Amino acid sequence: MARLFKNNSMEAANAIIEVNNLYHYFGKKKILEKLNLAIPKGSFVFLTGSTGSGKSTFLKILHAELAPTAGLVRVENFVIGPKNKPKIHLFRRCVQMIYQDFEILDDYSVKQNIEIPLRCMGISKKNRQKRIEVLLKVLELEEVKDTPSIFLSGGEKQRVAIARAISTSPKILLADEPTGNLDKRMAKRIMKILSHFNKHGTTIIVATHSIELKSLVENPIHLTISDSTIQEIK
Ligand SMILES: Nc1ncnc2c1ncn2[C@@H]1O[C@H](COP(=O)(O)OP(=O)(O)OP(=O)(O)O)[C@@H](O)[C@H]1O
Ligand SMILES: [Mg+2]
Repeated sequence: MARLFKNNSMEAANAIIEVNNLYHYFGKKKILEKLNLAIPKGSFVFLTGSTGSGKSTFLKILHAELAPTAGLVRVENFVIGPKNKPKIHLFRRCVQMIYQDFEILDDYSVKQNIEIPLRCMGISKKNRQKRIEVLLKVLELEEVKDTPSIFLSGGEKQRVAIARAISTSPKILLADEPTGNLDKRMAKRIMKILSHFNKHGTTIIVATHSIELKSLVENPIHLTISDSTIQEIK
């Protein structure tokens, strides 16, 4: 069973993410302080914490889009630090993010948005089409597949963001409030989809205020941020 561990070099060999002495400040405001933790390969992690506690900040550091103030993070074989940024085109093949505010392209249709990472990975047109068809079906987006994203509802946009992030079957999926705009039925469905990917080897970190989602996943790890540090809740 996957579990969180801290500073244990024997267990760290199984870690897909290792965080060493990580600090993050926005100006003088301390967000993360001296974090040391490791996340085992294949785990399903829930990250909770009050609003403004630093969940999105932490995920953005793991996604190599925000350089930490100090410390180092290893994600798979990539090293992230104040002055280390992995080669992004290679890193994105391994790590994908579902953004809290979606970050989908308004002028692009649903299909075009989902296609972006598949194009970046050089997948053939025929295979792109196949994967898109499956994702449209699974995420119940077939009816709006050609609609420009600006016209979508919040829940539809959220599902496009999810489809786009999972389209390339990343090794690591960072999901920032992935069910925040969805009703209970769709939230359950999304957790089922994420669990399916997890069972096939994807390590998943979900930042959320809805900790009841934990009951929908086998052997979850629950981390929480408060006072700039991360603790495991057992
Ligand atoms: N680019 C930035 N510049 C300055 N301050 C920032 C920046 N991004 C975030 N912050 C601040 O850092 C703190 C942590 O923000 P973050 O978005 O990580 O919180 P969160 O835990 O994800 O909150 P929520 O649950 O509301 O999504 C907040 O006080 C926020 O205002
Ligand atoms: Mg957030």
